[in-house]
Amino acid sequence: MTTARRVLVTGGAGFIGANFVRYWSDHYPDDRLVVLDALTYAGNLANLASVSDRGNYKFVHGNILDEAMLDDVMRQQQIDTIVHFAAESHVDRSIHEPDAFIQTNVVGTNKLLMAARRLWLDSDAAPETHLFHHVSTDEVYGTLGADDPPFTEHTTYAPNSPYAASKAASDHLVRSYHHTFGLQVTTSNCSNNYGPFQFPEKLIPLMIVNALTGKPLPVYGDGSNIRDWLYVEDHCRGIDLVMNKGQVGGTYNIGGNNEWRNIDIVNQLCVSIDAAFSRDDRLAGQFPDAPAASGRKTESLITFVKDRLGHDWRYAIDATLAQSELGYNPKEDFASGFQLTLNWMLQNENWWRAVMDGSYRDWISKNYSAGA
Ligand code: NAD
Ligand code: TYD
Repeated sequence: MTTARRVLVTGGAGFIGANFVRYWSDHYPDDRLVVLDALTYAGNLANLASVSDRGNYKFVHGNILDEAMLDDVMRQQQIDTIVHFAAESHVDRSIHEPDAFIQTNVVGTNKLLMAARRLWLDSDAAPETHLFHHVSTDEVYGTLGADDPPFTEHTTYAPNSPYAASKAASDHLVRSYHHTFGLQVTTSNCSNNYGPFQFPEKLIPLMIVNALTGKPLPVYGDGSNIRDWLYVEDHCRGIDLVMNKGQVGGTYNIGGNNEWRNIDIVNQLCVSIDAAFSRDDRLAGQFPDAPAASGRKTESLITFVKDRLGHDWRYAIDATLAQSELGYNPKEDFASGFQLTLNWMLQNENWWRAVMDGSYRDWISKNYSAGA
């Protein structure tokens, strides 16, 4: 693709979407970027502050369930590329309140596909070329045992949580619009992301915030569950490669080559926070409630809590296809990616304090109590 594109990014005010908008803006400055986001609890315009005065950028506050709005935006902005991030994304919430996941992830994805089909395949205003890129997760493949090979693109779908099931359904819908109608689509299934702007309900930012504010670090079950961690910028690069070099109709797994047990992640994080406080005296004044501020070990906050229902034991990605066909390789290992993330969290206290409002804390303490 060489000419400037008109790109609609759904969910662009969320964690990965905002990182992607920033990435795309840097790499493709001539492209028009339209961010469409409902600004749920996870969406935050502050995540887009650095691109908001970019020419060729527009933010639309809207819900992907709103068909008329989708048609208007697609037509008025002459969209030829969609990158679809908008979703309910937190497994714990899907266990307690699954309905929103079906609405946004399944029904919403279908509405977006229908709008794309109306403009791109069934109208006189169709652009010369188009692409619908769908962002999905490795959780659609279910869970692995210790000796199982990592997920490939051919692993059978076996989603275990309402979140994973809703994403699996959305993947199937995207596939079907390609097969049935000829919509030009690509899909990527990635592992657990971490990095700047991640809402502090997910493991890594939650643990950092709690460590800095002297709150318990809640490890579900015995902490032996394993995830493959992917630094968000590596994910954005992977999506770029899939969109520009991937086979239309194709699916690509994007991983970080970084399998860690949860308890090892949390221990590592505690050591890194202790080290940051030893290096920089000012942190004790900035975060007086952190154990590290008074010379205690952050690991003293680790608390084992009741396990998540249906908790998948292990996720691992085999990214050989993306590697061999697209030249994808993650740049960050966990040590470097985690240091970037911790530094960002230390420097952006205002950001995480603003998003950690009272209602979220209440929800967590209602659903996850100590003492498993
Ligand atoms: P997020 O929860 O941080 O952000 C989701 C964004 O979507 C928010 O800005 C929210 O306001 C918006 N949104 C939600 N419902 C909407 C609706 N109905 N209409 C319009 N906007 C809506 O999520 P994230 O972590 O950035 O994940 C982005 C995508 O990547 C999701 O599709 C998720 O399934 C996928 N994914 C995430 C991870 C991860 O580790 N975070 C891993 C694999 C795949
Ligand atoms: P999470 O960040 O919610 O991502 P996902 O469930 O999509 O993998 O959780 C990552 C892992 O960390 C998962 O095994 C659940 C576990 N976890 C905890 O032990 N404590 C927590 O407070 C959270 C949020 C997650």
